[in-house]
Amino acid sequence: EKGGYDHFMLKEIYEQPRSIRDCLRGRIYPQQGNVQLGGIKEYADKLRNLDRIIIVACGTSWHAGLVGEYLIEEYARISVEVEYASEFRYRNPIITEKDLVIAISQSGETADTMAAIELAKEKGATIFGVCNVVGASIPRVTHAGVYTHAGPEIGVASTKAFTSQVTVLTLMAFYMAQQRGAITQSKLIEYLTELDAIPTLIEKALKTNDKIKEIAAKFKDSRNCLFLGRGSSFPVALEGALKLKEISYIHAEGYPAAEMKHGPIALIDAEMPVVFIATKHSSYEKVISNIQEVKARGGRVIAIVSEGDTTVKDMADYVIEIPQTGEAFVPLVATIPLQLLSYHIAVMRGCNVDQPRNLAKSVTVE
Ligand code: F6R
Repeated sequence: EKGGYDHFMLKEIYEQPRSIRDCLRGRIYPQQGNVQLGGIKEYADKLRNLDRIIIVACGTSWHAGLVGEYLIEEYARISVEVEYASEFRYRNPIITEKDLVIAISQSGETADTMAAIELAKEKGATIFGVCNVVGASIPRVTHAGVYTHAGPEIGVASTKAFTSQVTVLTLMAFYMAQQRGAITQSKLIEYLTELDAIPTLIEKALKTNDKIKEIAAKFKDSRNCLFLGRGSSFPVALEGALKLKEISYIHAEGYPAAEMKHGPIALIDAEMPVVFIATKHSSYEKVISNIQEVKARGGRVIAIVSEGDTTVKDMADYVIEIPQTGEAFVPLVATIPLQLLSYHIAVMRGCNVDQPRNLAKSVTVE
């Protein structure tokens, strides 16, 4: 059932071109510049009159929510807050009937996310679900929703479910932008055409596997690791760090690259790898200065860069090249090498990658 792969996690990493295609199927019409989300279409009016969205989730799903925040604010121009469900539910949050709450959950069973939904529902908010498991508890209590269609995820550490959550949130951002007239038709055609090509770019990103394995061999004995990114690559850094700590038990932290000098910079030495997401997008130059700051302090840098990049190559100890994409889609592609890096490091350390200690696939108690 592992389809020839050593672990479910690796199989699921490799399934991503397919799972994202499934997620996009019947939902985007690039030539017409049209997004169709049948699950939420009855709420099109609501979306036109919205002032604020609150995203609630836990763990990896919360990271997907952070990517969603960047995309929805950028393209649909609606203000978004992203909350840990466990904090939101106990904080007496301010919620009104005007609000839209988007709950993200792979399993659809997470206790804290469920409780956050119930609270928001009581206060009259509209609730959308972004779930993977069809017919699970969360999709049954939400008003509407969009399934991710990633298929069953067996590996406890989430991989393909994450990228399909990000895909759904990307679709929602463009759908809302379309409904609200926040985007021109020609821009939509351009973005949807790029989105349609993402599964093919992920296939290319998976070809970095051998290179990543070599890098993993160099860093498998690290005790700490830092992941840094800016903009929508910041949540990618958080997700990279979570993946590494979950399956390899190496202590890892994700930070916005600019926050490095407000604390984590004190940790930098030759023993601690620093992984940068340094693709050629709006914050490229800023990230380059951050890389220089790490190198100046004797740190070792692994950088995820856009294909053909030579500037970062000259500075970093190791570079992993991924195909260039439009800014909106970096998280979908940049996540792939980070999943592979964690996977190989964990395997080399002899860890049980599919079932890491102390973790459960679905967290039904708070
Ligand atoms: C990390 C991971 C967890 C889940 C979290 C939420 O790899 O799998 O952090 O993301 O427990 O689970 P769902 O999405 O099922 O609500």
